[in-house]
Amino acid sequence: MTNQLITFDKQEQVFHLKNNEISYILKIEEDGVLNHLYFGKKINHYSGHKGYLRRDRGFSGNVPGNNERAYSKDTLPQEYSSNGSMDYRIPATIIRRENGSALHDFRYFDYRIENGKPELKGLPQAYILSEDEATSLIVVLKDRDQEIYLELAYTIYQDRPVIARGVKAINQTKQAIVLEKIASMQLDLTNSGEFDEVISLPGAHLRERQINRETIQPGVKSFESRRGASSHHMNSFIALVNHATNEFAGPAIGMHFVYSGNHAFQLEKDQIDQVRILVGINEYNFSWELAAGEAFQTPEVLLTYSDTGLNQMSSTFHHLLRERVARGEHQFKERPILVNNWEATYFDFTSEKIEKIVDEAADLGIEMFVLDDGWFGHRDSDNSSLGDWFEYEGKLKHGLKGIADYVHEKGMQFGVWFEPEMISIDSKLYQEHPDYLMQEPDRTPSSSRDQHLLDMGRKEIRENIEKQLCEILDEVPIDYVKWDMNRSLSDVYSTALTEKNQGEVAHRHILGVYELLEHLTTRYPKILWEGCSGGGGRFDAGFLYYMPQSWPTDNTDAVERLKIQYGTSLAYPISAMTAHVSAVPNHQTGRTTSLKTRGDVAMSGVFGYELDLTEMTEEEKQQVATQIQQYQKIRPLVQFGEFYRLNSPFEGNLTAWLFVNEDKSEALLMNARALASAQPVFHEVFLTGLDENAQYQAQGTNEMYYGDELMHLGLNVPDFFGDFQTQLIHLKKI
Ligand code: DGJ
Repeated sequence: MTNQLITFDKQEQVFHLKNNEISYILKIEEDGVLNHLYFGKKINHYSGHKGYLRRDRGFSGNVPGNNERAYSKDTLPQEYSSNGSMDYRIPATIIRRENGSALHDFRYFDYRIENGKPELKGLPQAYILSEDEATSLIVVLKDRDQEIYLELAYTIYQDRPVIARGVKAINQTKQAIVLEKIASMQLDLTNSGEFDEVISLPGAHLRERQINRETIQPGVKSFESRRGASSHHMNSFIALVNHATNEFAGPAIGMHFVYSGNHAFQLEKDQIDQVRILVGINEYNFSWELAAGEAFQTPEVLLTYSDTGLNQMSSTFHHLLRERVARGEHQFKERPILVNNWEATYFDFTSEKIEKIVDEAADLGIEMFVLDDGWFGHRDSDNSSLGDWFEYEGKLKHGLKGIADYVHEKGMQFGVWFEPEMISIDSKLYQEHPDYLMQEPDRTPSSSRDQHLLDMGRKEIRENIEKQLCEILDEVPIDYVKWDMNRSLSDVYSTALTEKNQGEVAHRHILGVYELLEHLTTRYPKILWEGCSGGGGRFDAGFLYYMPQSWPTDNTDAVERLKIQYGTSLAYPISAMTAHVSAVPNHQTGRTTSLKTRGDVAMSGVFGYELDLTEMTEEEKQQVATQIQQYQKIRPLVQFGEFYRLNSPFEGNLTAWLFVNEDKSEALLMNARALASAQPVFHEVFLTGLDENAQYQAQGTNEMYYGDELMHLGLNVPDFFGDFQTQLIHLKKI
C-alpha cells in the first residue's frame, strides 16, 4: 500500500515515513525481526542498499531459530527488542507469563497504514485537527510462541518534523500475563558517531531544568524519575546531539515523553558503539496485569529531528506543544498579567489585606488577582486542611465570593489555588475517610510537607474531590485555577487492588489524576488552568494537554531564573512558562536585584507579580505601572513569537535570547549579565530570524538598524555597570 506520507516497499520489506523534512525508515529483516534503519533528514528515495552488516561476533548468538552465525539480535538495530532472545542489551519490554517465564521473542506479524492518528484513551497526547494532518503506521509484532501481540504505532505529521510513537500490548492467550516493563519506544542508532552526546534537564526544587550535556559512554545510563511525578529532578525530555551541535547548527533528536508520572530514558552504548534509547514508564514500582483478551496502551513519545541545531528542535516542540498538545479556550489567548498573594502574605492574610493588594493592583493596571494557599478548611499553615475544599469560615469577611466580587468590580479577573491530590491528617476528609490516604494499612505512611497523597486510582476518591471542587467553582465566579501538588509519592499501595496488582498503583494514580483533569477542564472551559508542583515538579508535556501554562519553579530570583527559563525553553514553549516579579531580598536566595532586572527577566515569560504591592514606594509603583504597559505591548510577541536562545547562562556570565514575531515585523532582545568585573571584555550579540532588508527601530531610543546588520554585524552588549544587569530592546520594522 502506498500513502503520501508512508510507503511500504514490498520487495525490500521497507517502511518509509517521510514528509518534507524528515524520514524514518524501518525494515523487516530475515525471520521477521524488525530492524531500525534510519531517522533523520528527509531521504527522497531509499534504494534499499543499506542493509545490516553481518558478522559473527563471539558470545552474540544467533537469532532464535536461525543458525546463521553472523545474524544476531545482540547487534542488530531494532525497532523494539524482546527479553531473553539473544539480545543482551536493555530490553524494551519484560512480560511474565503464569509459568513464571519472562522469555519472549517478538517478530513481525502484520501492518496497517491509517489516515490520521490513533486516539489514546485516558492519556494526554499530541492531536490532529483533521485526518489529513498526519498518517500512522501500525506494525504488529507477535511473540514466536504465544498469542501476545505488540502494536507499534508511528504517526508522522504532514507539516511538522515530528513522529509520535507508542505501543499497545495485547494479550490473546488464555491466561493472564504481567507487563513488568513496556517502553513506549525504542531507537537503536548505528555507530556512525552522529549522536555522541545527550542533553538532559536535571534539577531540584528551586533549580529546575538545568541544561546538562554529556558524552554517551559505554554501558547503561538512565535519566529518570521514581517520584510518582515527572519531577523537578529529571525532566521527561532528552535530546541526542553531536558534540559539534550548537543552537544554530548540527543534528539534534529531541524526545518528549507525554506523561506526568515515573519515567525513564535509558541509553545503552553497546559493544560496537551503537546506542539504544528506550523511553517509557519507569519499570521501578511498575507492573501491569493483563487478563486474557485485555490490552495496555503506553503513553506516547514525541520525536523530532533537526539538522540545524537546538533552536530549530526547540521551535518544533514550541509549536507542537502549543498548537497540538495544549487545548482549550486559552490555548492561543494572551494570558492576563496577574498578582499572586503567596510571597506577599503566605498563609497570613485577611480580607482587608487582600482588598488593599487588589486596590493597588487595579490602580497599576494588573489584570488578575490570584488568591493562593490558605483560604479553605482551617488552613493557616501547611500542616492542615488538604482535602477540605470548602471555605475557611471567618478568614475572609465576605467569603471567597466576596473577594471574587470585589476583584471583579475592580475590572480584574479572579483566580484561586487548589491542591486536589492531597490529604492532611488534620482535615475533615481524613476524619471521615482515613482510608483515602495512600498507604499500606497498619504501616505508618511517610509525610512530606505534613501532607499525604490521596489514592487517585480510586473512583470514589476522585468523585469526592471533584464534587467539592465543583461546588466551589459553581458558586464562586473563578476565572483561573492554580493546580498545585507539593510532594512526591510514597507508600505506593492501594487497598482497592489485590496483592499481585500493587505494581499498578503509581500508574493508576496518574491515570486517575488525568481523568479528574479531563472532567474539570471540560466542565469549566472558560477557566484558565495553570499547573504547578511546588514550582516545576510536573512541568511536562502530559500536563500541558490539560493546562496551557505552568509555574516552572518556586524560585523567583531573577538571576537564577535566567538558567531555569533558558533550560525550560529547550523543550517547552514560552506561553507555557509563567514568570513573576517578587520582592527583594529574594525569598529563595536572599539576593537583591533591581526592579528593572526582575521585570526584564519575568517579561520573557507569562508575566505577573508575586509581592506585596502595598509595601512598594510610589516610585516603585510607577515603575510597575510602566512595566505593565510595556508588557502589554510585547505580550503577543513573547507568548506566541519564535524564541531563539543566543547566549547561554550555563556557559558564562552573559545571557541573551530573542523573540521574533511571525511576519518578522517585531523582535524583542533580552540581554543579561550576572556579575560585574572592573575590566570587562566587550561582547556582541548576533540576532537571528529577522528580515535582512527591513529597517527596525528600537522603541524608546529610536535607533535604527537593518535586519542584516543586527544579524551579521551584531549589537554590542551594553557596557553594564554593577551586578545583575539586564536590557530589553523592542524592535519594530518601519
Ligand atoms: C507551592 C507553589 O509552587 C507556590 O507557588 C505556592 O502556591 C505554595 N505551593 C502554596 O502552598
